[in-house]
Amino acid sequence: MFITFEGPDGSGKTLQVQLLADFLKRKGFPVFSAREPGDTTIGEQIRKVLMDHNNAAMHPRTETLLFCAARAQLVEEVIKPHLVMGEIVILDRYADSTMAYQGYGHQNDLNLIARLLDFATSGLEPDLTFLLDIDPKIGLARRQSSGGEWNRLDAYQIHYHQRVRAGYLEMAKADPSRWKVIDASLPPDMVQSKLQNLLLLYLSDK
Ligand code: TMP
Repeated sequence: MFITFEGPDGSGKTLQVQLLADFLKRKGFPVFSAREPGDTTIGEQIRKVLMDHNNAAMHPRTETLLFCAARAQLVEEVIKPHLVMGEIVILDRYADSTMAYQGYGHQNDLNLIARLLDFATSGLEPDLTFLLDIDPKIGLARRQSSGGEWNRLDAYQIHYHQRVRAGYLEMAKADPSRWKVIDASLPPDMVQSKLQNLLLLYLSDK
């Protein structure tokens, strides 16, 4: 099974991925989790280029292709082998991030991005996607006050981040069987218990 987490910056995905992976391991499931972009030697190098404030001149098409390049490597080197081993793979961001940030955020042609993503992932789609939805103003403020990473992409204007959020909500609405939306402004333990309930419900339907 392949589960992905999506959401605007500062939505608390990383913590929730960790907690959900621990929950599933305690229940006896084999779990593998990773984050995008990165988690392969090549991916980590690409991540540095993407996040570096010195690369302010990066064109949105360059940015799109770099995210896709990191993902293509992750799919082949990491995701597919773990799925073949029968593990539950949980990813902190995947192809929908590119659709939200580079598609809706940069207002690129969504059909073209979809084709590019299909190529980069060789058509591998998640079974289940959790959208941790949050107003970007709250998310970005959270991020800054926590002293966490503040990267080149966080520094885009608020309207950009609002388009990203709207894009996510549109994708979720279009495919409710794959997407589950959770209010990420709730306390983290409440978010986690909602996630666990949704996942158990999903598994009981299978
Ligand atoms: P992170 O903070 O969740 O690690 O994500 C890093 C940043 O990269 C975040 O601002 C979202 C952005 N991003 C994209 O713009 N497109 C993508 O395809 C991915 C995976 C991330």
